[in-house]
Amino acid sequence: MKVVITKDYNEMSAKAFEIMKEVVTANPCAVLGLATGSTPIGLYKEMIRDHKENGTSYKSIRAVNLDEYKGLDITSDQSYVYFMRENLFNHIDIDLANTHIENGKAEDAEAECARYNAFLANNVQDIQVLGIGSNGHIAFNEPGTSFDSVTHIVDLAESTIKDNSRLFKSIDEVPRQAFTMGLKNIMDAKKIIVLANGENKAKAVFGLVKGEITENVPASILQNHPDCTLICDEAAAKLIAEA
Ligand code: GLP
Repeated sequence: MKVVITKDYNEMSAKAFEIMKEVVTANPCAVLGLATGSTPIGLYKEMIRDHKENGTSYKSIRAVNLDEYKGLDITSDQSYVYFMRENLFNHIDIDLANTHIENGKAEDAEAECARYNAFLANNVQDIQVLGIGSNGHIAFNEPGTSFDSVTHIVDLAESTIKDNSRLFKSIDEVPRQAFTMGLKNIMDAKKIIVLANGENKAKAVFGLVKGEITENVPASILQNHPDCTLICDEAAAKLIAEA
C-alpha cells in the first residue's frame, strides 16, 4: 500500500483530487466508486471547483456508491443518495441517471442486493474512494464481515451508530441497518484511495496499514490490493509514523 501523509485536511483533499482527476481525464467514461461521510467532502469540493474553473466534464462518467441506510431514500436528508446530490452531483454535469446506489427503501432487500451485485459486475470501479470508520470498517462492512462478502444488509455496530449520530437529530434516528457493498466488491476496484483525517482515525489507520490482515479489521484486506493509496493527515498517521 502506498502511504501519503499530508499536513492537514485540505492537503489530503488536494492529493486525492490529483488522483481522481488523472482517472477522469484518462477515461471520460470512467466508473467512479464514491463514498459518503465527512472525510471525502473536501475531495468533492475540489472536483466541483475544477469542474467550474476548468470545465472538466462528468457527462459520460458513471458513479457507484458504497452504501445506503435501510429505510431511507432521496426524501430523507440523512440518506446517502441525498448526501451525494447535495455535496457533488448537483454541482457537476453528471447525468443523475448514471449515478447508482442501493435503494434503501427496496421492498425486497435480498433482490436489491442481487440487483446491485449484478450491476457492479458490469460496472467495475476504475477508482474507489473510501473513508474509514473508527473501528476499521469500510463502507458499512463492520468488524467480522467476510472478506468474500458482496452487497448485503448489515446490522450497524453500536460504535458506528454512535459515530454517525452526530449527523442526526438524535441517536434514536440513526437507522440500525444498512445496505453495503461487500469487501469483495471493493477489492474488485482497479484503483483505491483511502482518505483519513483526525486523531480519532489513528488506530483504524494503523490496522489498515500495519495491522494483521484479519476480518476483525475489515480495512486490513486493502493491504492485499495491488493499487491502493492511503492519503491521511498527520493526526491520523500518528500511530503508523511512530511504529
Ligand atoms: C460511514 C460510512 C463510511 C465512512 C464512515 C466514516 O460509516 N458508511 O463509508 O467511511 O462513515 O465517516 P466519516 O468520514 O464521517 O468519518
